[in-house]
Amino acid sequence: MRVRTAVLISGRGSNLKALLAASASTAYPAEIVLVLSNVESAAGLNHAQAAGIPIQVIRHDSFPRREDFDAALDAAVQKAGIELICLAGFMRMLGDSFVEKWRGRLINIHPSLLPSFKGTRVHERAIESGVRISGCTVHYVTPELDSGPPIAQAAVPIACTDTADSLAERILAAEHRLYPAALKMVAEGRVRLSDGRAVFQDYRCAGDVLINPPELSNR
Ligand code: GRF
Repeated sequence: MRVRTAVLISGRGSNLKALLAASASTAYPAEIVLVLSNVESAAGLNHAQAAGIPIQVIRHDSFPRREDFDAALDAAVQKAGIELICLAGFMRMLGDSFVEKWRGRLINIHPSLLPSFKGTRVHERAIESGVRISGCTVHYVTPELDSGPPIAQAAVPIACTDTADSLAERILAAEHRLYPAALKMVAEGRVRLSDGRAVFQDYRCAGDVLINPPELSNR
């Protein structure tokens, strides 16, 4: 049985598209059975419709309190028999009780190497800071924003000619590879949340070194 998975979006949905493409294969261990958005006009909903996946819109602004919005989300995912939730550009903070209830079964992707550059304007801030490598992180969600334990990361070198837009484009391409791969590991049960860290069975490290600027790596 594949793990019944919901994806929560608010916008463009390019990560959703990558997850849907992976989940289209019956050999993939997660099956996306519901796409939820808090924004009716979210472009990403079209990807779900094209893939024939049920969509549901729950507008946050129709609830006076965050708890009520969270409860509506929770009811929707419960009704669909969801076991795992992926946030993919979902632009609402979820309240503590929702996050606690789904602890270990709620994951997110963030376009930086966490714990660096939490929050917004990440690519601008990475370039301004002068770091030579950025990337993206799939992590378990905990109540504090972008602070949950990393599951998997992809490193993307920053070129001296990079703008926030050009860096965002390369990091987004890395996200589209990383998120389906990380969800696969979670759905297979090869990684789980334990004592505030992502713990793997048979963790194999990439083993390579990424040096940027590359000429420094000449021996
Ligand atoms: C991605 O950069 C993701 O890391 C961040 O929000 C963006 C969503 O993009 N959390 P998309 O909607 O998946 O195209």
